[in-house]
Amino acid sequence: MALRDGVGQGVGSGSKQSLANYLTDDKLGLIVFDLIFAGIDTSYTTFLWLLLFLSSDLMVQKKLRNEISDKIGDRLPTLDDRHRCHYVMAFISETLRFRNVVPVAVPHNAIVDSKIGDYKIPKNMSVCVYQGFIMRNDSNKYWTNPNDFKPERFLDSDNHYMRPTSRSQPAFIPFGIGRRVCIGEKLAIADLFLVLTRFLQSTQNYDIVLDSHQGLDADPNNTDSISPINH
Ligand code: HEM
Ligand SMILES: *[C@@H]1O[C@H](CO)[C@@H](O)[C@H](O)[C@H]1NC(C)=O
Ligand SMILES: *[C@@H]1O[C@H](CO)[C@@H](O)[C@H](O)[C@H]1NC(C)=O
Ligand SMILES: *[C@@H]1O[C@H](CO)[C@@H](O)[C@H](O)[C@H]1NC(C)=O
Repeated sequence: MALRDGVGQGVGSGSKQSLANYLTDDKLGLIVFDLIFAGIDTSYTTFLWLLLFLSSDLMVQKKLRNEISDKIGDRLPTLDDRHRCHYVMAFISETLRFRNVVPVAVPHNAIVDSKIGDYKIPKNMSVCVYQGFIMRNDSNKYWTNPNDFKPERFLDSDNHYMRPTSRSQPAFIPFGIGRRVCIGEKLAIADLFLVLTRFLQSTQNYDIVLDSHQGLDADPNNTDSISPINH
C-alpha cells in the first residue's frame, strides 16, 4: 500500500527511519474502523442533544442566533470564529457536560496490580470512569447546580468563553481522561461548531421547536438514555 510505503520512508524529516512494519493492511483497516466507529455516532448523538437544548429553550436559541449573526453574519463560518462565538462554545461545552454520550467511557484493564485511592485493582481487572456522573456530581465540589443546563457556567464576567482545563474544571471530562483520552476531541468540537453555526445560519427565518406530533418524544430532562431519540 502506498501509505505504508510513505510512512516507512520517513515522511517529513527526510532522515532515514525504520519501516513501520506493524502497520499492516489488517491493522490499517481496523484503525480506520475505530475512527469511524468512535467518531460518527458520538458526534451525531451530541448534535441531537444540541438540537434538543436549543429547541427546548427559545432564549438559548435566540442567544445563539444573535451571536452568530453579530460575529459571523451570512458568510461561511470558519474555525477562527470559535474565538468570537463565546456563547456558542459555552453551549457546546455545557451539552457535552450535561448529556455526555459516553457516560461510562471505555473500559480499560489494569496491566499490573494497581491502586486507585484506597481501592486495590488487581492485574487485568476492568475499570470504567463514570464520567457522565462526575460531570453531574452534586457535592458542590465541582459544579453549582449540576442538574441545570446552564451554558453561562463556562463564561466569565465579560461573557468570554472560559475553555475548561484540567486545572480550572477538573471534573469536565467529556472525552475521558488519561493516556487513552479521545483522540478525536479537537475534531469533534470543530465539527460541532461548524455544523451548528451553519445550521442556525441557514434556518434563521424559523424558530426550531419540538414537535411532539411528529412522534418525537424527546425530553431534555431525561437522563436514562444517552440519546434524546429512542431508535
Ligand atoms: C462528541 C464527540 C465525541 C465524544 C464525546 C468522544 C468521547 C470519547 C471517550 C469518552 C473515549 C474513551 C476515553 C477513555 O478511554 O478514557 C473516546 C475514545 C476514542 N475516541 Fe472519541 N469521542 C468523540 C468523538 C470522536 C471522534 C470525532 C473521533 C475520531 C475521528 C474519535 C476517536 C476516538 C478513538 C480512536 C478513541 C480511542 C482512543 C484510545 O483508546 O486510545 N472520537 N472518545
Ligand atoms: C483478563 O480479563 C479478560 C476479561 O476482562 C478475560 O477475557 C481474560 O481471560 C483475562 N486474562 C487473564 C490473563 O486473566
Ligand atoms: C461527588 O464527588 C464527591 C467528592 O469527590 C464524592 O465523594 C461523591 O461520592 C460524588 N457524588 C456522586 C453522586 O457521584
Ligand atoms: C426540566 O427540568 C427543569 C428544572 O427542573 C424544569 O424547569 C423544566 O420545566 C423541565 N422541562 C421539562 C420539559 O419537563
